[in-house]
Amino acid sequence: MSKIKIICAVGTRPEAIKMAPVILALKQQPWADVRVLATAQHRGLLDQVLTFFGIEPDIDLNIMRPNQALTTLTARLLLELDEVLLAEKPDVLLAQGDTTTVMTAALACFYHHIPFGHVEAGLRTWDMQNPFPEEANRVIAGRLARWHFAPTEGSRQNLLREGAPDSDIIVTGNTVIDALLMTADRELELGIELDPAKRLVLITSHRRENFGAPFRNICRAVQTLAERNPDVQFLYPVHPNPNVKDVAYEILDASSNIHLCEPLDYAPFVAAMKRSYLIISDSGGVQEEAPALGKPVLVLRDETERPEAVEQGVVKLVGPNYERIVHEAQRLLDDESAYLEMARGISPYGDGHGAERIVEVLREHFA
Ligand code: UD1
Ligand code: UDP
Repeated sequence: MSKIKIICAVGTRPEAIKMAPVILALKQQPWADVRVLATAQHRGLLDQVLTFFGIEPDIDLNIMRPNQALTTLTARLLLELDEVLLAEKPDVLLAQGDTTTVMTAALACFYHHIPFGHVEAGLRTWDMQNPFPEEANRVIAGRLARWHFAPTEGSRQNLLREGAPDSDIIVTGNTVIDALLMTADRELELGIELDPAKRLVLITSHRRENFGAPFRNICRAVQTLAERNPDVQFLYPVHPNPNVKDVAYEILDASSNIHLCEPLDYAPFVAAMKRSYLIISDSGGVQEEAPALGKPVLVLRDETERPEAVEQGVVKLVGPNYERIVHEAQRLLDDESAYLEMARGISPYGDGHGAERIVEVLREHFA
């Protein structure tokens, strides 16, 4: 039997983290000819992850430009993907999540009649503006997908509500947990000097809908928390998007118990999550990883497409809202029983076998 040609497309940091277990599992399959396509919508952040997992792209579109706008990013991606699909003619293309890379990959596959497998399918807030533009990206990708690899039963229900055929939806768990388990077992070095006697609050933020005043509120809240809690240290690996980085360094740099740093490589970031007392973040991936590590997360958003951990009480939405961030973080720092209620290790998003299930679906289909 001739091999099945599978393109695995990755553009940004979280896509690479969540696709790495799938790529590595597919590469073990004698029937699969795996081609890794890096759009490099992210450059540095993507390379960090691919290097960590020992994955070398077969095709690299080197798309990223400084402070790229959504329309030009989309247009350039579509043109480049078109050429790749014409040249490569894969039997299937897989992509993960809700970035512009994923949406354009699904659309380019549709134009070329190439089956598209959507990893992390069916996440919805049902609000097109939140998160922006990700809700639209995943709705489009979902509408065009041949296979929906849904992380949870809730995401499966979302897809059914949109009319996706039941037979095309497979609940696999989120491959972020596969990546986390592959990593958390390794010897982890944070590589940053922290005071071992002090508790750590870890912060990340990058959402486009928070740019401007909401992101300034977030930074001011962190600043206030740092001033009120000199016995706590705050670590914030700053996302390189200039809309984030410039403001974070402007508002937060002066304070002595706030450590601002470049984005951490994946293993040091996992070490930072494990070392942390509390996490404040608007990241999708972090909302999935932190509960599995037993770390409470305050989410800097008013809604989430990942309701499972919120329903179980280990993740709380505080919005990009100054008062709520300060109040909820302070409560968790001061009230041990409130903290312990949120610091329960649960893993509603996966069991570490998501990639195996995805591979099995493809193997059976092409057998
Ligand atoms: C993108 C995704 C978002 C995802 C996030 C994960 C879109 C529209 N957005 O947001 O869904 O949650 O990645 O982090 O798909 N930059 C660098 N180096 C890098 C990466 C980014 O300098 O390695 C800077 C560049 O100036 C770039 C800018 O950040 O133009 C924005 O990158 P982009 O991918 O468009 O948006 P993100 O905010 O990173
Ligand atoms: N992450 C990382 N280094 C950092 C911050 C985050 O490796 O400095 C990882 C984190 O563990 C998670 C992923 O990046 O798996 C989340 O990416 P991001 O927040 O950029 O995107 P989102 O998940 O919101 O799409």
